Amino acid sequence: MSPLKITLVSIAMATHLLSLTLVTAASAANAVDSKAELSQTRKGQLNHIVKQDCGSCHGMTLKGGLGPALLPENLEGKPVLFLQHTILYGRKGTAMPPWKTLLTEQEALWISQQLKAGKIANK
Ligand code: HEC
Repeated sequence: MSPLKITLVSIAMATHLLSLTLVTAASAANAVDSKAELSQTRKGQLNHIVKQDCGSCHGMTLKGGLGPALLPENLEGKPVLFLQHTILYGRKGTAMPPWKTLLTEQEALWISQQLKAGKIANK
């Protein structure tokens, strides 16, 4: 290879590496973004989902039905991460389905926190 060709190849490789670094940095920024506070619109949608979809089993006021009641007194002592896991992955061998294709980890976490605080769909 001629020195010129080697230089060009090195430049091409450097550019490629740089673009890889930029892509990685951009997706890292996105990952941070996804940790940002949920929008009011999305929170409204989640409230609706809990009432309508979760409510079909847990009751529209979350007092229980086919699924157990999800009021703060029922969830006492159950860690938020345990509830989040139940929502995302469901419970095998029970009617509780996994929601991971419809809800993000952050959204399932938010719902769990709201449930424990009695701030969601229970009025
Ligand atoms: C098809 C019925 C059904 C639907 C729909 C459903 N659940 Fe459930 N869920 C259940 C059942 C049944 C259980 C109890 C599972 C068991 O026996 O451990 C349960 C358990 C749970 C628990 C654990 C409660 C505890 O005390 O440990 C949480 C939290 C929960 N569901 C949240 C949700 C949320 C949030 C939604 C909507 C995104 C939802 N569920 C939709 C049937 C359902």
